[in-house]
Amino acid sequence: MSAMRTVLKSGTRRGFLGGLAWTAAAFSVRGAFAEELVRTPRQTEGPFYPDHLPLDTDNDLLIVNDAITPGVGQVTHLTGRILDARGEPLRGALVEIWQCDNNGAYLHSGSGNANRRDGNFQGFGRFLTGSTGEYYFRTIKPVPYPGRSPHIHFAVKVPKQEKFTTQCYVKNDPGNARDFIYQSVRDPKQRDALTVDFAPIPKSTIGELAARFDVVLGG
Ligand SMILES: [Fe+2]
Repeated sequence: MSAMRTVLKSGTRRGFLGGLAWTAAAFSVRGAFAEELVRTPRQTEGPFYPDHLPLDTDNDLLIVNDAITPGVGQVTHLTGRILDARGEPLRGALVEIWQCDNNGAYLHSGSGNANRRDGNFQGFGRFLTGSTGEYYFRTIKPVPYPGRSPHIHFAVKVPKQEKFTTQCYVKNDPGNARDFIYQSVRDPKQRDALTVDFAPIPKSTIGELAARFDVVLGG
């Protein structure tokens, strides 16, 4: 028992010192490239970009057209900015998001769980950025579906640039460790750039969440 404790202790100590060394290295590197932000890694578009766009493609995914019943799920206010590598906001960027509904069904004819699709959830939305580069969507907190941890797909279209696609993940979701697309990003800082807090909004009576995901483009 005491031998085991010793082993654990020395293991912890090594980890701690290693962490310190890493932090020191990161600190000096950050000084050298202070003006460069971590670029958001590209991720696959995947197979479920809508194959038939909904009639309503606005930035409120909870209400389709004039429906009275909203889509089911944990209401999330998703915001962020589209930036270039120096942190300058990009105006006129078309931001598209798509995600499965609360039952794991996409707005796609090949989606799993199609027979349980929530017809009140828009599943897809668009936003054109203004001079601040800011976008806003009202949507739901993403849920897992077979083989994937929760994520929201993004496509960002900037004139004269190649379309940029990525995926945004929920911080501390246990599924992230098993998600092969998430794990394909090896650099922890790049991975962090894809992972955001879905934080409760204080005083919200219906448990709304706020999430902020900035997209830093390279070109
Ligand atoms: Fe997906």
